[in-house]
Amino acid sequence: SKKPVRVAVTGAAGQIGYALLFRIASGEMLGKDQPVILQLLEIPDEKAQNALKGVIMELEDCAFPLLAGIEAHSDPMTAFKDTDFALLVGARPRGPGMERSDLLAANAQIFTVQGKALNAVASRNVKVLVVGNPANTNAYIAMKSAPDLPAKNFTAMLRLDHNRAASQIAAKTGKAVADIEKLAVWGNHSPTMYADYRYATIGGQSVKAMINDEQWNREVFLPTVGKRGAAIIAARGLSSAASAANAAIDHMRDWALGTNGKWVTMGIPSKGEYGIPAEVMFGYPVTTENGEYKIVEGLEIDAFSQECINKTLNELLEEQNGVKHLL
Ligand code: NAI
Repeated sequence: SKKPVRVAVTGAAGQIGYALLFRIASGEMLGKDQPVILQLLEIPDEKAQNALKGVIMELEDCAFPLLAGIEAHSDPMTAFKDTDFALLVGARPRGPGMERSDLLAANAQIFTVQGKALNAVASRNVKVLVVGNPANTNAYIAMKSAPDLPAKNFTAMLRLDHNRAASQIAAKTGKAVADIEKLAVWGNHSPTMYADYRYATIGGQSVKAMINDEQWNREVFLPTVGKRGAAIIAARGLSSAASAANAAIDHMRDWALGTNGKWVTMGIPSKGEYGIPAEVMFGYPVTTENGEYKIVEGLEIDAFSQECINKTLNELLEEQNGVKHLL
């Protein structure tokens, strides 16, 4: 049987953690033949550590055959030791009266510390996914704080936006979500993201031609996908958790095990593709194979798409500028 791999999860006692850990332990992320050791990080706060103990008791009580070990940590330097996969979920939420700049600064602090810890102790091949918001900028900070690790190992989660877009398209066309190919989401994980179905197909047929309604694209589809997080908060009183955990599973599984040519969306550091400045953590359509992602290149960007891409890029550049002095 395979040697266990180490999976670190931060914010492990939070609501995404609760929807995520059991699926990692059951083999949904890395395969039904891959044992895992969970290295769980929470803040030192007694309440958080107690909550984490409770989650661990429940993980034990599942008796998952693939769960080869569980560790509880309050220090990233031990939580990230030799880790092969790191899911950075824990982040500082925006509190009452908190300015956007305060939020960026609080998270910059968390993600510089965690980036440095990954740099010092993680596996040199560690695959890092940042879920905690602002996800792209937090991933950028972690990457910049880990100069000894390859930059390409740091990614941000755009998969929830991708899945939301796929689901809206399936509903609009009356087709199965599983049959949608070649969907792309560009940019920031925020309402500015640009979900792009111009190249998408279902059963080889063009989705754009099938829908044939540019007004629906601009006035219904894009705002629905962009504001979906807010709609869920308004309805549930809590932010998306199970769907976010599901997207994190999808992102890591596809990165590790490959997509067989299927396009998925990942937030990854640009190397200048599509005119995005180098190092910007940007959502791109990718395919993956042998544990490596590759950007889908050569797509034509029309005027409307360029406008959308510029908008989400400018937001990311502003966020990046807002934390520059803290790096
Ligand atoms: P939550 O508040 O339920 O849980 C977060 C947990 O992280 C808490 O238990 C907290 O103690 C812990 N935490 C905070 N700072 C930490 C640190 N420095 N080290 C370790 N743990 C730390 O929040 P929830 O709902 O689980 O969401 C987590 C994050 O994911 C939020 O930032 C949220 O905005 C983001 N999110 C991102 C999505 C995406 O698509 N990228 C989608 C949905 C949520």
